[in-house]
This record gives sequence, structure tokens and C-alpha cells, in this order.
Amino acid sequence: MKFKGYLVRENEGNFNGSIEDIDIPKLEQGRVLIKVHYSSLNYKDALAASGAKGVASSYPFVPGIDVAGEIIESSTTDFSVGDNVIATGYKIGMSEFGGFGEIVHLPSNWVIKMPSELDHIKCMSFGTAGITAAACIKKIVDGDCSKKLPVLVSGSTGGVGSISVGILSKIGYEVHAISGKSSQVDTLKMMGANEILDRNEYMSDPIKPMDKAQYSAAVDTVGGEILSKMLTMIANHGVISCCGNVAGPKFSSSVFPFILRGIQLSGIDSAESSIELKKELWELLSNEWSLDLLNQTKIVKISEIKEEIDKILKGDQIGRVVIQHGE
Ligand SMILES: NC(=O)c1ccc[n+]([C@@H]2O[C@H](COP(=O)([O-])OP(=O)(O)OC[C@H]3O[C@@H](n4cnc5c(N)ncnc54)[C@H](OP(=O)(O)O)[C@@H]3O)[C@@H](O)[C@H]2O)c1
Repeated sequence: MKFKGYLVRENEGNFNGSIEDIDIPKLEQGRVLIKVHYSSLNYKDALAASGAKGVASSYPFVPGIDVAGEIIESSTTDFSVGDNVIATGYKIGMSEFGGFGEIVHLPSNWVIKMPSELDHIKCMSFGTAGITAAACIKKIVDGDCSKKLPVLVSGSTGGVGSISVGILSKIGYEVHAISGKSSQVDTLKMMGANEILDRNEYMSDPIKPMDKAQYSAAVDTVGGEILSKMLTMIANHGVISCCGNVAGPKFSSSVFPFILRGIQLSGIDSAESSIELKKELWELLSNEWSLDLLNQTKIVKISEIKEEIDKILKGDQIGRVVIQHGE
């Protein structure tokens, strides 16, 4: 028996994906077989699909770190055939074939039952971007960051950034969104941003060891010099949740924001979070932090994924891309 999947193959250093028929694996002990109804596109998937080092462990490979689907075979009593489930992160789409295929064969302790308030499309309109945004915001909420000053979000039209803007606005923070896309001011306002800061203008003044404390907290999805600058602008006891590196892996700082303002730089690794934390974040996304993302979500067929991969690699995606399997 076969399933269809977007299989990426390496040929003399070039990486190319296409839809192929792949053998359905035999169910192993401790695992479940899931029929994937929807997946989603994240920056990491685009890296795996283009052969970037450090994501997929070997090729040929099916990327896709996000899965929403239905159990079709289970070796454990935790799941029954027909259960609607979500699986994100861990080694999915890294060393285990991922959600860009119609079937996945995953350890059952990576899988959670879908909250009843959600459906497959809603789950994947959040996907890893959603639980990463939620993890970033949980650090800010747990850090008791004041609502008297705004929260800054970088990469704000991207997956993690746009969902962060939406949730922060929903829970009562004033949100200032940094973006490189001047054409998206109205979209960002619709998502909940109160002010939009042009990325080049934000970076135009030189970075000082300490700047005016204008923000109570920040969600940084890009790293690099933007993070260096953010560190100087966070008020006393503020939190920066740091989750991404699209602007570069390196940043610089002095110790002053830490020893004079007591700020915290909190790292986020949503993929390897405990399954208990993932359940908690999905509960938040299905209740108090729920968002209607359908306006900012594009649904594409798996056969159309190549173009979307190119766009996300260029930083040109807006919002979320959900991938539909089948007809
Ligand atoms: N740590 C974790 O657990 C975790 C989980 C998920 C994702 N991530 C990481 O988080 C980052 C964002 O992921 P995503 O899926 O949201 O990606 P995405 O949808 O591609 O969003 C990234 C956004 O960053 C901005 N950007 C692009 N190039 C830039 C540049 N050179 N300098 C500054 N900003 C730039 C763009 O927004 P604007 O044009 O609006 O500025 C872009 O839309 C990635 O690095 C990803 O690997 C980490």
C-alpha cells in the first residue's frame, strides 16, 4: 500500500521535491499511523525542502513539522482509530517523514488529541507558528510584564509574528509591530497592531548600550541586529522571548540591560517542549487565546507547495500557509 507525499531528493548537491508514491510503513510498537488531512508551511520546512544543513537528517525525505489528522492504526490504548489528533515538532519533518505526506508513522507520545473547539484547518492555521507564538507570550505573561507600555514584535507579518500580534492584542497589550513590508500596514492593523514600525527606520539610529525604555516586553522572531537593538529598549524587569533567526544567528549586547534593568532574554524551543506544555498551549489557543486566522491563512494543495516554499525563503510570506492533502 502506498501514500502520496512531497519527497525531496538530493542529486549532486541539488535538492528537488516532487509528489511521489511512498510505501506505508508497518505499524511499530509505541507508534500510531495518522492519515494527515492538513499540514502547514513553516520556515523550518522550507529549509528542509531546500537541503539547508541541520534540519532534515538525510534524503530522500518528506518535510513537514506539523500534522493534523486522524488515527488510522494505533499500537497503544491512548489512541483509537478515528481520533482527531495534532502532532508538531520533536523529530517530525527532521528525521521522521512529516506532514507533507498523506500518512505519518509517529511515536504516540508526540501526539495529542485535538481540543474539541478546533478542527483540522484551524489547528494548522496555528501549527508550530501558533504554539511558538503562544510559548513566547506565556513567558511574557508569566513574567508579569506591565500593560502600561507596549510590546514589540519583529517579523510581524510572518507566521509566528502575526499570531503573536493577534494574541497579544487579544489579551490587552498595546502592540508595536516591526515589519519590512510597507504594503502590509492595513493587514497588520487588522491583526491587532497599534503601531507599525518600518524595519529600516527602526534600525536607522545606531544601537546604544542603553536606549529609552519604551517597551515592557518583546517577541523576537528574527534575531540578528534587531534583537541587539530590542535589548536596549526593554523597560525594567521586561522579557524578550527569542525564537528565530531569519535576520541572522548572531547578536550583540552589553550587560547593562540585564544588570541595570533586570530584563530577561527567554529562549523558546517549541519543537522540543514537553508534551504537557504543548497540551497547555493548544488549550490556550482553543480558548482564551483563540484567533480566527482564516483571513490571514492561505490554503494550498500539496502539489502547489514549491512556490510557497520559495516565498517563505525570501521572507515574502504573509500570515500562514495551510497544506491540504487529497482532493
Ligand atoms: N524556536 C522555536 O521554537 C521556533 C518555532 C517556529 C519558528 N521558529 C523560527 O522563527 C522564525 C520565524 O518563523 P516563521 O515560520 O514565522 O517564518 P516566516 O513566516 O517566514 O516569518 C518571518 C518574517 O521575518 C521577517 N523577515 C524576513 N527576512 C528578514 C530579514 N532579513 N530581517 C528581518 N526580518 C526579516 C518577515 O516579516 P516582516 O516583513 O513583517 O518583517 C518574515 O515574514 C524562523 O527563524 C523560524 O525558524 C522558531
